[in-house]
This record gives sequence, structure tokens and C-alpha cells, in this order.
Amino acid sequence: MPKSINSAVEAIELSGIRKFFNLVQDKDDVLSLTIGQPDFTTPESVKQAAKDALDTNKTSYTQNQGLFELRDKASQYINDLYNTTWTPEQVLITVGASQAIDIALRTLLTPGDEVILPSPIYPGYEPLVTLQNASVVEVDTTPTDFKLTPEALEAAITKQTKVVILPYPSNPTGVTLTREELNQIKDVIIKHDLYLITDEIYSTISFDTPHVSMGVFEELSEQLIVINGLSKSHAMTGFRIGFLFGPRKLMDQFTKVLQYNVSCATSTSQYAALNAVTKAKDAPVNMRKAYLERRDYVYQRLTAMGLEVVRPGGAFYFMFKLNDSRPSFDLALDLVNKARVAFVPGSSFGRYGEGYLRLSYAYSFDTLKEGLDRLEQYLLQQ
Ligand SMILES: Cc1ncc(COP(=O)(O)O)c(C=O)c1O
Repeated sequence: MPKSINSAVEAIELSGIRKFFNLVQDKDDVLSLTIGQPDFTTPESVKQAAKDALDTNKTSYTQNQGLFELRDKASQYINDLYNTTWTPEQVLITVGASQAIDIALRTLLTPGDEVILPSPIYPGYEPLVTLQNASVVEVDTTPTDFKLTPEALEAAITKQTKVVILPYPSNPTGVTLTREELNQIKDVIIKHDLYLITDEIYSTISFDTPHVSMGVFEELSEQLIVINGLSKSHAMTGFRIGFLFGPRKLMDQFTKVLQYNVSCATSTSQYAALNAVTKAKDAPVNMRKAYLERRDYVYQRLTAMGLEVVRPGGAFYFMFKLNDSRPSFDLALDLVNKARVAFVPGSSFGRYGEGYLRLSYAYSFDTLKEGLDRLEQYLLQQ
């Protein structure tokens, strides 16, 4: 019998979203409002750039950090959007935002460290923290309309705290933060000498106020890692291109982790990404308009049903509550069985997601209307 495997791997679980899908995927006629990826197709010029890269044999390894030209144009793209000052040396091209998160956490964490997460939270962080034999401290944001406040952050900090992860606009809540709110959180990060990872993958999908990147605060330059990428902004989830922006003195360390993990992001995807950040800049603008119309429609429907909802400022999700005390998994399953409509149970998004359901509006108007009609019928029959 070989020796036992890494107990940290055994300790992590398949995501709650996956478990829910496995239960409902064989059921007929279920309308799903669950998926967290754009329903748009990748811009034509981006697809063409990928084909051209293949046809011209741009199919070998690139620099570990990613093509210089892409790092140059990607940093310029983000700087132009958010008034930041990243240089090409401060960005790594990664395999999706997912790998950027993993690289940051693997580089920063040692066993026993604590990572603060505002909850409800995207389920992609906690397992990566656990794999480093570090632990997660969830901060309950439900009393403050899903916003992390400086007071709640400060109260969660201990001697073991090393990293705070702040995703905004947020999956699953859609909530985003103003410049003043970010400024206050920045002060706490500096006061306690912590690292801050902001996951800004939904930055182009900001509705009511323009997205403010934490990268604008010069004082954070030694301790801030900003994650972004093209999965959501350009409907490129399958290309797997993310960006990790970070402090100059950490970039070599991050690069080593990337090098021994994947050598580099896929070359043809990098050429497609170069097109996305130079020639397809209007794609995110058009998608944002469509998401905004849907946000307003869904908000109006949910509030007309008398439900408790926070109006999201970005991304393409709503977290909402029904007047029902069942665990969110059982409730979501009941909705599938009786109303033939699927939402993700809030328990998939950390301790404080329990009691909620997540709706994704990365779907056509017709699908949204039908899904919401089914929810309305269900509520009328309760
Ligand atoms: C908040 C958040 N971060 C990161 C990711 C992963 O992005 P990518 O597909 O670029 O790896 C997602 C995907 O849903 C997400 O919602």
C-alpha cells in the first residue's frame, strides 16, 4: 500500500456549484440561470487573430511571463481604463484569472497564515488557501449590503493574517465599492502591513459608477496584487487568459511559480489576447450595455415579487432571498423539481451565502423572462 496522499488535497471539496449541477443535470425541461460565463461569442477579430497565429506557426513556447508585446499592450489597456501605472514588467500573462490567483497565493502563503475573505464569496479562493496549509477567515458582509467595511475587516485581523482578498464587482453578489470605500480599506491594509489581492475580473461590467481599481493607490505598490483577464470582458473563457499585476520586487518570484507550473500561457491564446486589448476594445462596452438592461429588468422583476435584493453595481449576478427557512441547497432543489428553474444555492459561496440563491443574468432576455415567470409562479403557489 503506497503512503497516504497530501491531506490538504483530501480536505478540499468539489465546489458546491458542481455538486448542485450533478444533481440537476439529468432533469428534463429545467431552465438554468446558473452559469457564470458570458452568453456572447468571442469578438470576430479575436478569433481571427487566433487562427492567424496558428497559420503562421506561432505555436511555440513564449517567454514565461508572456509575450512582451502582450504585457505591454495589456498594461496599457488596463492603465487607460483605470488610470493606473502598471509597466510591462509588472504583469504576468496567466492561464485564466484562476492561475493568477493560485500563483499569488502559492507565492505569498506559508502554513498557518490566515487569509481574510469577504463572504458570500467566489468559491475559487478557499481551496487554494487550504492547499497551502493556510486558513480562511470569512467576514460576514450580509449586514452591510454585501460590502466589506473597514471596521469589519479590522475586527477580523489577527497576528496570523497575511492576505486579504477583495473581489469587486463581486461574484456572487454583484456588489462593487466606491473610491472612498476602497480608500478606507486601503488604510487598514497599510496600517497592518498586509498583502491585498483584488480580483477585478468583472471590472468592465460596472454600471452605476466607473470601476475604480485598487491600483490607483500608490501607497499600496509594495503589497498589492491585481487580478484581471479577458474571460468575462471579451467572452473568452475558453482561451484561458488572465493578468496578474504586482509589485516589482515580487514579479520574479511569481514567474518561478508560473514557470514550473505551465511554462507559459498558450501561445495562440496570447495572440488572440493581443488583438482583444488593442482591436476589440469596444466589445466589453457593448456587452456592458446589454448586461445593464438585463440587470434593470431582473431587479424590477425580483422587487415586484416582494423579494429582498441588493441592487448589484456590476458583474452579472444577483444574490436574493426567498421568504423560506430551508437550507439553500434544499430550496434550490425544490425550485428545480417544482418550478423547473435552477439557481445556484447560496451555500456554494461560503458560510454567509447560506439562505440566499444566486441568479446569473448572462442569459438572453427570453430566457430571463421565462426563468423569472417560473419563479413567480412558484412563489404564488407557496
Ligand atoms: C470572481 C472570479 N474570479 C476569477 C474567476 C476565474 O476566471 P478565469 O476563467 O479567467 O480563470 C471567476 C470565474 O467565474 C470569477 O467569478
